[in-house]
Amino acid sequence: MKEAPMEEILKTQDLKAYFEELEILKGINLSIPKNRVTAIMGPSGCGKTTLLRCFNRMHEETPGAHTKGKIFLEGKDILSMNPILVRKMVGMVFQKPNPFPTMSIYENVLAGYRLNGIKLRKEEAQGIVEESLKKAVLWDEVKDFLHRRGTFLSGGQQQRLCIARALAVNPKLLLMDEPTSALDPKATRRVEELVTELKEAVTIVIVTHNTSQAGRVADYTAFLYLGELIEFGPTEELFTAPKDPRTEEYLTGKFG
Ligand SMILES: Nc1ncnc2c1ncn2[C@@H]1O[C@H](COP(=O)(O)OP(=O)(O)OP(=O)(O)O)[C@@H](O)[C@H]1O
Ligand SMILES: [Mg+2]
Repeated sequence: MKEAPMEEILKTQDLKAYFEELEILKGINLSIPKNRVTAIMGPSGCGKTTLLRCFNRMHEETPGAHTKGKIFLEGKDILSMNPILVRKMVGMVFQKPNPFPTMSIYENVLAGYRLNGIKLRKEEAQGIVEESLKKAVLWDEVKDFLHRRGTFLSGGQQQRLCIARALAVNPKLLLMDEPTSALDPKATRRVEELVTELKEAVTIVIVTHNTSQAGRVADYTAFLYLGELIEFGPTEELFTAPKDPRTEEYLTGKFG
């Protein structure tokens, strides 16, 4: 049976990104399917992190950096929106778990509200903490010591705490930049399982260097090379029958 046509949540149109006059992304046209996991792959330096940082308006925070082209999130041009609003809809998780070191587990989960100056009633705050930690499959491990510091957790738990923090503000899109590269195999598996569960509620874009990981979690995969989108499609198709020789060379380990 043929799958119904994919609803897209984010779309870029001739997206270019620059550091000073250096063009890093060279006109990307990409559609990210809603409630699916999309992997971004490609050799080191090809622009994967830069692409994610365009999606949440972080790229332009670097002095001298700018973008051209358009990015639509649910049809709205995010490059002409208030970046703070964009970041409420687009959460991000980084390579190294980065809970706020002076904050407790509880405060970490609510950090997005605190930073945006949103005051919550106590019961409301407690509800959000519990719900977010449950979504990140961390609740059972931490529920008895929510007021201890987040940095006291293991690396894998810290990463799930960062995922809970990102989910707490109900983003439409969750960006993950090599989220398991600092984790051991067991913690990696837990994050991968979590990614698969989360896509019911949130669209995920994950940068990974690991083809097996992309194979396990990603419905779709995009292959970037030297700032260009070379190929995009269902992961299985891209892996088994790449259309571009550069995709095939990357997948067989010839470069990157
Ligand atoms: N702050 C910066 N100033 C100037 N150039 C930068 C800056 N950050 C990144 N670059 C350059 O932009 C290019 C793309 O970098 P980016 O971090 O997006 O690559 P990547 O695909 O994420 O690589 P990796 O797999 O190593 O994380 C690289 O050539 C990099 O040197
Ligand atoms: Mg990167």
